[in-house]
Amino acid sequence: MSLDTGIRLAYLVAAICFIIALRGLSGPKTARAGNLVGAAGMLLAIGMTFATPGLSRFGLMAAAMAIGAVIGFPAARLVKMTAIPQMVAAFNGVGGGAAALIALSTFLKATPADLAIYEVVEILLGVIIGSVSFAGSIIAFAKLQELMSGRPITYPGQQVLNGAVGAGILALGVAACVSPHTWIVVTIAVLALAFGIAFVLPIGGADVPVLISLLNSFTGLAVAASGFVLHAVVLVVAGTLVGASGTLLTRMMSAAMGRSLPNILFSAFGSVITANAEGQEGGDRSVRSGSPDDIAVLLAYSRKVIIVPGYGLAVAQAQHSARELAELLESRGVEVLYAIHPVAGRMPGHMNVLLAEADVPYEKLKEMDDANPEFQTTDVALVVGANDVVNPAAKNSPGSPIYGMPILQVDQARNVVFLKRSMRPGFAGIDNDLLFDQKTTLLFGDAKDSLSKLVAAVKRL
Ligand code: TAP
Repeated sequence: MSLDTGIRLAYLVAAICFIIALRGLSGPKTARAGNLVGAAGMLLAIGMTFATPGLSRFGLMAAAMAIGAVIGFPAARLVKMTAIPQMVAAFNGVGGGAAALIALSTFLKATPADLAIYEVVEILLGVIIGSVSFAGSIIAFAKLQELMSGRPITYPGQQVLNGAVGAGILALGVAACVSPHTWIVVTIAVLALAFGIAFVLPIGGADVPVLISLLNSFTGLAVAASGFVLHAVVLVVAGTLVGASGTLLTRMMSAAMGRSLPNILFSAFGSVITANAEGQEGGDRSVRSGSPDDIAVLLAYSRKVIIVPGYGLAVAQAQHSARELAELLESRGVEVLYAIHPVAGRMPGHMNVLLAEADVPYEKLKEMDDANPEFQTTDVALVVGANDVVNPAAKNSPGSPIYGMPILQVDQARNVVFLKRSMRPGFAGIDNDLLFDQKTTLLFGDAKDSLSKLVAAVKRL
């Protein structure tokens, strides 16, 4: 077997590793192994690239990789769980930028007149999609890292201006296909960077994770385009996998939020906050708040308790306390389950990751469709820092912004206990009638403190 055939075969193995990795990443039990298989595939692909005969600038590539490793390794080890979305945004942006630069440098190295139209199109796709992804991801990073306001930033005529920049890119793209001048391609790159920024500015709040998933799929497409430019099959495969999985994830997140993707991208959701967002006590209506001792009795003498974690559990880092309470109740003969909504928290799998970190057994986690039938036979639904994902307005109030979003049906449990700090609403900024329901008791305070108080109170019984 010639060296060339060996290298091609190794690239094929790497591509298969990427597919197996994606399969593994789709479940919490297999995610770690999937990640390792993907990394092994990437290592093999890099090794084969260096083994390619006639490779030049070896030192430059090794130096670039060393810089990447010095930045990437500690960043991945030290990042807090709540900061993963912005780390993904930053890494994704770098990937998009790299794809754009590869396409641009290929163009600058070539003799434009010798390029076939399809080659110009491949280069332009890499430049445009990669630049949009780079600039958009950097703004998304700045929003999530609170380097700038996380709210939607809007101004009159914004959509028209964005449309005009998009049309300009398209027109210049056609011009570049007809006569591929360097100034046209460079102008397209600059306009695509501007478009990336302008496109992301009006998207804010918890819509940003959906945006990052979309930008991730853009980066995948840009990498696939670079693969065509460089005739590198493994890049085409890897880019297509990222593009396809990013697109599917974006669709699944939008569906779980009960919203369409255009609504998320263009409606500046989260810029309007209702009166109660400032923490008022829900108008004239009163709520019932309980003491840790009252709630401990309710929990300890139940047959079945379902814990419903949400964004507040992540903020309070209350996952270990939740598991401690669950184990204590189980030692008293109470059946305890966890109900997981697909968009609880602020990133896909947020609750699964936190609970796995606290060693909660996987079989105790019930996805929404499996959890919902359980609530009818549940004595207490213990809602820990969740709000929108249990808000019955999603099924009862046609005018509500979350109407149509599938929710966890905690209102069907005999008793509902909310652990939260105030009467503030969740991300959607809307009231939750369940807080005022007769069967609901509130325990105000930080979720971790409240859970610790409940643990102590159950132990006293
Ligand atoms: P939210 O509806 O945002 O509610 C979180 C609740 O946690 C709030 O009511 C807040 O009330 C409470 N809280 C915050 N910090 C707390 C703390 N330290 N201790 C106790 N409670 C605390 O969360 P959810 O129910 O998880 O819903 C997620 C929302 O994010 C949905 O609207 C979803 O569409 C959106 N979203 C999710 C994703 C993904 S992929 N997960 C992506 C985009 C958007 P207080 O301030 O009164 O404590």
